[in-house]
Amino acid sequence: MKVLIATDKPFAKIAVAGIRFEVEAAGFELALLEKYTEKQQLLDAVVDADAIIIRSDIIDAEVIAAAKKMKIVVRAGAGYDNIDLDAASDSGVCVMNTPGQNANAVAELVFGMLIYAVRNFYNGTSGTELMGKKLGIHAYGNVGRNVARIAKGFGMDLYAYDAYCPETIMMNDAIKPMKSVEDLYATCDIVSVHIPATSETKKSINAALLNLMPKGAVLVNTARKEVIDEAEMVEFMTTHRDFKYVTDILPGNDVEMTEKFAGRYFTTPKKMGAQTSEANINAGIAAAKQIVDFIKNRNAQYKVNK
Ligand code: 3PG
Repeated sequence: MKVLIATDKPFAKIAVAGIRFEVEAAGFELALLEKYTEKQQLLDAVVDADAIIIRSDIIDAEVIAAAKKMKIVVRAGAGYDNIDLDAASDSGVCVMNTPGQNANAVAELVFGMLIYAVRNFYNGTSGTELMGKKLGIHAYGNVGRNVARIAKGFGMDLYAYDAYCPETIMMNDAIKPMKSVEDLYATCDIVSVHIPATSETKKSINAALLNLMPKGAVLVNTARKEVIDEAEMVEFMTTHRDFKYVTDILPGNDVEMTEKFAGRYFTTPKKMGAQTSEANINAGIAAAKQIVDFIKNRNAQYKVNK
């Protein structure tokens, strides 16, 4: 059995060592494809792989067709919008993610980015503090819950909206549940985005929603660029000169955003939320264990496709 790690953005070395240990202890072989520059390299590498561990790497129908022996692909992380689930199902390939394993890393970055934003990108002018500010958590999943935990340490006032999470869960965590996404944006000084990119959520953060936010608001996005209506974001930021947008996902219109909104807009060049040794170890080793358990015991607990 051959397990391939195919990561354009590599795991920390210690995480690769941990994955290797799990894979070899099961009697499987490990192959590594990192920092590839051409899709062809991925297509070549998957040919004889029985199982693949990926991150945000694109697993489309072409990759699935090339991976003739593939039984399982595990996205070491949360979002699996980079995988063609239907093509995988049609080829009998099991797709899994590793929910929660990198959530703390992403949540910590939210605060790194927020402090940078409210201190005016460290430009020497007087900024504001997080204490006492209303923080809106847009989706109360694993990352949202870690954000809430950390925000309590900052003394923030916490609100959340999640169409799929029972209000009682939020209330038990001392979070005020909001009835609608509009209520969340209208109420909060800062909103932290944690929704997946789906047909429902794509471009859902648009000018109409941003218009509801109070003066001087900050939006922090460590989720997906697709959930932002980028054209409307430009429109909104042009007329709302007090608003700041900080994101961990390079927008499609980064050049325009940088040109027009210097000092109010920041993006990491490459998604950094899950890029810690701890998150790589957690998600990578979970992925390896899930593969071994699936191949040896048919355990498909974290399967996300049909
Ligand atoms: C996730 O969905 O788990 C995060 O966006 C992290 O993605 P990455 O593994 O590509 O850094």
